[in-house]
Amino acid sequence: MRRPIIAGNWKMNETIDQSLDLVTKLKSEVAEVNDVDIVVCPPFTSLFAVGKAIRGANIFLGAQDIYWEEKGAYTGEVSPGMLTNVGCQYVIIGHSERRHLFGEANQSVNRKVKAALKFDLTPIMCVGERLEERERGVTEGVVREHITRGLEGLSREEVLKMVIAYEPVWAIGTGKTATPDQAQEVHSFIRGLLRELYDEVIASKVRIQYGGSVKPENIFDLMREKDIDGALVGGASLDAKSFAQIVKYER
Ligand code: 13P
Repeated sequence: MRRPIIAGNWKMNETIDQSLDLVTKLKSEVAEVNDVDIVVCPPFTSLFAVGKAIRGANIFLGAQDIYWEEKGAYTGEVSPGMLTNVGCQYVIIGHSERRHLFGEANQSVNRKVKAALKFDLTPIMCVGERLEERERGVTEGVVREHITRGLEGLSREEVLKMVIAYEPVWAIGTGKTATPDQAQEVHSFIRGLLRELYDEVIASKVRIQYGGSVKPENIFDLMREKDIDGALVGGASLDAKSFAQIVKYER
């Protein structure tokens, strides 16, 4: 059985004070949860403070991006070692906003995934098609490209440590969630790809999250699908009660 993993991507929201307020409320809301991995991904500026606030709690810390070099003249970038130093265990890589607003390509996603793994950070590698691509019927082609290029050169041991997030771009921040059937179809395609690229053990063990307008009202039906192992939540993760309800989808 794969352990569910629910992560909150706070994106470019919350000052340090607001982050502390949010995570403190969340901590008490989810204190009794012990059967789900809970991750929060605040902006870089809040990582240290939030990391300190959740020390010893059942919440993991994640960053929203990473750079692959260890140090040097890379103005504006943050290294893997800097992230582990503030207490990160997870890092989101290749989010669609990075891909489409900031021109992130598969090759850099792949380098970032490798760098994260080298530093024992769990990459949450995001993949997903745009509306226009879905309408053209090329969803599987786009996802195949994101996965094969993103995982290029990784050993099976490395892939086993990863989390993949399927986030259809048309469902992000739009209130338009993929139906459980639509999401399941792509999740099962991704699992098939992992089987094709690696083997059955990898295909059955890697956790695949769904992301895109996940809310307390739709999480239960999504999680009922056999290949959906969790969620990467944007907007609804900025409210402690909503995010806690998502984490506690079974209760
Ligand atoms: P929303 O939940 O706001 O649609 O965002 C999803 C997302 O991009 C999470 O990474």
